[in-house]
Amino acid sequence: MLSLSEYITISLDTNLFFLRIMKEHAFFLEIAFMQKEDRCIDKAKYFRESYESLLSEAADMAPGRVSRKAVKSEQFVTCHTMEAEEVSSCFTCIPFNMSITRKELSLSPNDRRRPLSEQAVTSLNKRAYKLTLEFIEFKEMLLNRVLDCSMFMATYPLLIDHITKEARLFAKRLDTLLRGMHFRDLLGQEIFWNERMEEHMEFVAGLLDPTEEPLICDARNLAKLFDNLNKKVCKESRPNINSFTKESLDATKKVKQFKNTATNLVLDCKLRSMIMPLLADHILREANHYLFILGAFNS
Ligand SMILES: [Fe+2]
Repeated sequence: MLSLSEYITISLDTNLFFLRIMKEHAFFLEIAFMQKEDRCIDKAKYFRESYESLLSEAADMAPGRVSRKAVKSEQFVTCHTMEAEEVSSCFTCIPFNMSITRKELSLSPNDRRRPLSEQAVTSLNKRAYKLTLEFIEFKEMLLNRVLDCSMFMATYPLLIDHITKEARLFAKRLDTLLRGMHFRDLLGQEIFWNERMEEHMEFVAGLLDPTEEPLICDARNLAKLFDNLNKKVCKESRPNINSFTKESLDATKKVKQFKNTATNLVLDCKLRSMIMPLLADHILREANHYLFILGAFNS
């Protein structure tokens, strides 16, 4: 069972990372619909705004409560997030509440704690859980409609599936927290995030302009690296978890470096691609979150 302070810290760590991820999933969907799908556009906007409001609450609760290593990992915001939001907002006319980003950028381990009740955190967890179940249903409906060709979207079906899996993980983690338990299953999480890292590299390869051959090749090689890691561990009846974690950590450090370079290139307008700047920063934060899970910031 979690102690009260563990419950508050893990809840805020989890919400600050995932609420922003969910908010951006809603944004990516919102800009991928054709104009005639006005009801879907409105629904995506509703999710974006609802997640943004929950994220704002979480950011207000965070000072002095989030863990030092979660802040250090840059999974909540990176040095690129603000600029990526500005440029993405300029491209799409969709607004982002950047005061939340500013608040998260200023989080420090030395922040003074404000009074915070367990009930306030539980209320946030419950509302995030309920909204995420609704969001999962929406994403599943979209994937079904795209797959049966009753709707066209300017995004990969695999991306809809990918973001649905991330929403399911968030819901699972919130459910575990609401039951007052630790979320342990390290092997399951490693397999999960290796698969997400592999897909990120496949999306990047597919969104780069065909003339960007060297980068496409690097992205495909990185995708293969994660695929091989998972294939190897799934074949073994008694996998060596320590060596799997070490290899996953090495691969994730490489993918982080690639994503950081790609984000810089996108923001500096030095890359031919269809990569929305906020998508570049989004997948970089997910690599940072995975490094955090792998214990890269424990010391
Ligand atoms: Fe992802």
